[in-house]
Parts: sequence; structure tokens; C-alpha cells
Amino acid sequence: MDKLEDSQHSNLQEIEQEAFREIGGAKSLDSLESLSTKYLGRKGILTAFLRNIPKLPVEARPSAGKNANLLKLRLEEVFNRLKAEIESNFDSSDQIDVTLPGRAFTRGTLHPVTKISREIISIFTRIGFEIAEGPEVETDYYNFEALNIPKYHPARDMQDTFYVAENIVLRTHTSPTQPRVMQKVNPPVRIIAPGKVYRCDSDVTHTPMFHQVEGLMVDQDVSFGDLKGTLTTFIHKLFDEDISLRFRPSFFPFTEPSAEVDIRCVMCRGKGCRVCSGTGWLEVLGAGMVHPAVFENVGYDTEKYTGFAFGMGIERLAMLKYGIDDLRKFFENDMRFLRQF
Ligand code: DAH
Repeated sequence: MDKLEDSQHSNLQEIEQEAFREIGGAKSLDSLESLSTKYLGRKGILTAFLRNIPKLPVEARPSAGKNANLLKLRLEEVFNRLKAEIESNFDSSDQIDVTLPGRAFTRGTLHPVTKISREIISIFTRIGFEIAEGPEVETDYYNFEALNIPKYHPARDMQDTFYVAENIVLRTHTSPTQPRVMQKVNPPVRIIAPGKVYRCDSDVTHTPMFHQVEGLMVDQDVSFGDLKGTLTTFIHKLFDEDISLRFRPSFFPFTEPSAEVDIRCVMCRGKGCRVCSGTGWLEVLGAGMVHPAVFENVGYDTEKYTGFAFGMGIERLAMLKYGIDDLRKFFENDMRFLRQF
């Protein structure tokens, strides 16, 4: 080895020793980055050495170039490895900016039909009613026959009823829950039955599916007075204590006598407005004393027991309670509407 080559070599060795000493003390990504620039950057020490090679004596050039390039590769490899190590140990909790505004999370809201159903259920369960449920796909027998609705009754018309098969329908009301429950248990009976019902009807005030709550109470000595008291308590709890009720004689095949129940218009308090069509009253319920024919169908002793029943549309009550003017809003699932509940 001649002198010149030897001096170049020791120079490169110095560079190498110094570089590794410095790298050994580097603790952060930043310090590694600046060391990388110091040795390998455009104006770096090793880069300058490589650039200087053409000025070396011809004999010294090959080994100086080879060794410098090897060192360059080793340094690159070490820098990359250390940077990767530091990055993988990086604790992101150090980086959370606690001054940033929090990310709001959106809570779901109850659908108004769900909300009022729960309220109705809670009012009745507090006065001793239990919850019963029946199937939505119902037999002709329970939907009509057991409820004393004869074959020629207009409710059976194809226009109103969705027929699934000859004797199978989508229930047109929650009333079939009445004979279903009475067949299973003996009096006293005190149930409410909320659920979906279906009618082949669709316009501004009708949807093919809507919700009803049925009520039934059977015992010895149940009177029309009990019906009035129960429904009055219910309406007062659902709306307010000042709402008066009116029982109008009506007809349902499964009750006798039957009544339709109106409440004082919750919008105008009886003065007359668009919602009550100027009458001051709103019809909200059908009700009556259970017809003896219904008791006979389920094997109840008509001499011993009497009972009352009622049924109401949930969407209608929700519209009145929340001041909703269009039935279709319940089923459009517009978030701006639903978020208000
Ligand atoms: N089922 C009737 C309807 O859908 C409502 C009804 C009226 C239910 C009188 C009753 C009742 O239980 O006694 O229109």
C-alpha cells in the first residue's frame, strides 16, 4: 500500500468512526435526520469525499471509490433501520393535542311512534294492565269471525283487507288479540296489545301499515263507568288533566253498546281550528262493552262476566300530541324530522 492510498484510507476510516460515534448518540428522528444530511446530503462529508476521488492519483481511485461507496451503503442502511425503530416505538399519546375541540358523537333518537307507544304502555301498566301481543299475519277467524264480524261485513272487503291466502290476512286491527288472550286465560283479564296493523289503503291520511293499541278488561261487574274512568285517566295522563272527553254512540260488531271517543281539540281547546275541522272535538278511540257473542266464542260465561274493550290509532295520537300535520312524515325517515323527538 503506497502512502497516498494509505492516507485516503485513514481519512475514510476517520469519517466512518466519527459517523458511527455520532449515530450512537442520536436519540431522536430529528437528530438522525440531521446526521444523515451531515454525511450523505448533497454537501455532506462522504459526498464531498466521493466527489474528490477524481482528483486522487489514478492508482488510489478504485479502492477509495469502492470503500467510500460501501460506507455510504452501510450508513444508509443504518439510518433507515434506526429511523424505522424510532418510528415503531413512537407513542402517539404524546401527539394528542388536548386543545382540539372534541368530536361530537350523534345519539340516536326514538321514533315518535315508539316514543308515544312506550308512553301509552307505561300509563296502562301503571294502572294494572299487562301487555299482550298477537301475530301480524292472522287468520280470518281471529281477525273477523271470533269478533262477531260477519262474512258480509264491509271490513272484509278486498279493498280494505290484505289477504295472504283464502283464510289468512294481515290483521286489519289489534282486536284479534282479544279472543286470542281470552282463549288462553280465565277472567280477570286486563291487557293492552300494541302493534302493527295493515289496511289496503294509501292516501294523505292513510298508510297501508299503521299502529294501534288494543285494550281489554274482563271481570265480574265491569261496567261502562269503568270504561269511562279508565279512558279518562288515560287521556289525562297522555295529554293533560284539562282535556275533556265525549262518548258518542257508535257501532262495532264486537262491542255492545259501542262508542267513539272524542277529546277536546288539543290545538284550539274547543274554539274550532283546521285540525278539528272547526268542531272543537277530535275522534281518538273506538270502545265499548264486549259483545256476548265474543265471550261465547271463547267460552266465557256471559252471565258471570262483563268487560270493556277499546282500540286506538297510535299515529293519530302522536300527531295530536306532537303537533305533526302529515301522517306520511312518520314513514319517510327524514332525519331532520326524526331528530326532533
Ligand atoms: N278495532 C277497531 C278499529 O280498528 C277499534 C276498536 C273499536 C277496538 C272498539 C275496540 C273496540 O276494542 O271496543 O277501528
